[in-house]
Amino acid sequence: MHKIIEKKVLAQDVTMLRVEAPEIAARRKAGQFIILRLDEEGERIPLTIAASDDQTITIISQQVGASTAQLARLQQGDSIADLVGPLGQPTHIEKWGYVVGVGGGVGTAPILPILKAVAAAGNKVDGIIGFRNKELVILEDEMKQACADLTVCTDDGSYGHKGFVTEALKKKLEEQKADMVLAVGPVVMMRAVCKLTKQMGVPTLVSLNPIMVDGTGMCGACRVSVGGKTKFACVDGPEFDGHQVDFEELMMRQRTYLQQEKISYDDFKKCHCESK
Ligand code: NAD
Ligand code: FES
Repeated sequence: MHKIIEKKVLAQDVTMLRVEAPEIAARRKAGQFIILRLDEEGERIPLTIAASDDQTITIISQQVGASTAQLARLQQGDSIADLVGPLGQPTHIEKWGYVVGVGGGVGTAPILPILKAVAAAGNKVDGIIGFRNKELVILEDEMKQACADLTVCTDDGSYGHKGFVTEALKKKLEEQKADMVLAVGPVVMMRAVCKLTKQMGVPTLVSLNPIMVDGTGMCGACRVSVGGKTKFACVDGPEFDGHQVDFEELMMRQRTYLQQEKISYDDFKKCHCESK
């Protein structure tokens, strides 16, 4: 069992949990993730490790279905049954020079530790983060600390620059060509970032979040096509060359269980409301 040491609600439906996991904390590197189960019957939820100290890891979760809603209801002092990790390959980091990191919505949580590690390796790092509106902005102060310059965008213009992250990225790359772009967020955003950076000739790494089950390369649930080859995001990724990723296939595979996920979430909400 892994005890929750701290809980914070960062924005609507976005929760940060600091959880006791000293063995994972000792080994984890930027870009890696864990898979958790709330109990023995629980669904497996993959989540990036946002930070760690000697005893704990920090995970940030968006409430999108029954299991993540159940996770969001846990309180400080409660426990999570299993945590497996660290999983996946750590971020491949080089001294590239000038790097721009792009975080879309909750994708800001996984990009933060990556950008910290990229900056620590001697790169100049600028950040761009985007949210639907002001209420959904997360980790702004932490991103400011990690980046030389941070641009915050909102789709509706209620905070920072109005528009998608891709508009801010285009402007930034026109001012100074970057040596590397790193992007984490919704698949449509990563696809749009890659379309732009391909046109502008800037190498781009993306962190993919396909459906995962075992997290060990055995079940095939997280299969993605990269450069025409089959890869498993849980063991070969989660980061890949964005210009090689088949985003259409990824989006199609992510929709596989939408109907079942909706039924399960509706049932959860019904039970939760009735039990109030
Ligand atoms: P969201 O839908 O609110 O979008 C966040 C931002 O992405 C927008 O404000 C916009 O700037 C940009 N964006 C969205 N659509 C775009 C488009 N078509 N073109 C250009 N830019 C676009 O995001 P959310 O609701 O916070 O969801 C976050 C997503 O990130 C989820 O889909 C989640 O699965 C994903 N995620 C990915 C990882 C990962 O490792 N890849 C980790 C955590 C979350
Ligand atoms: Fe099963 Fe990756 S989650 S192969």
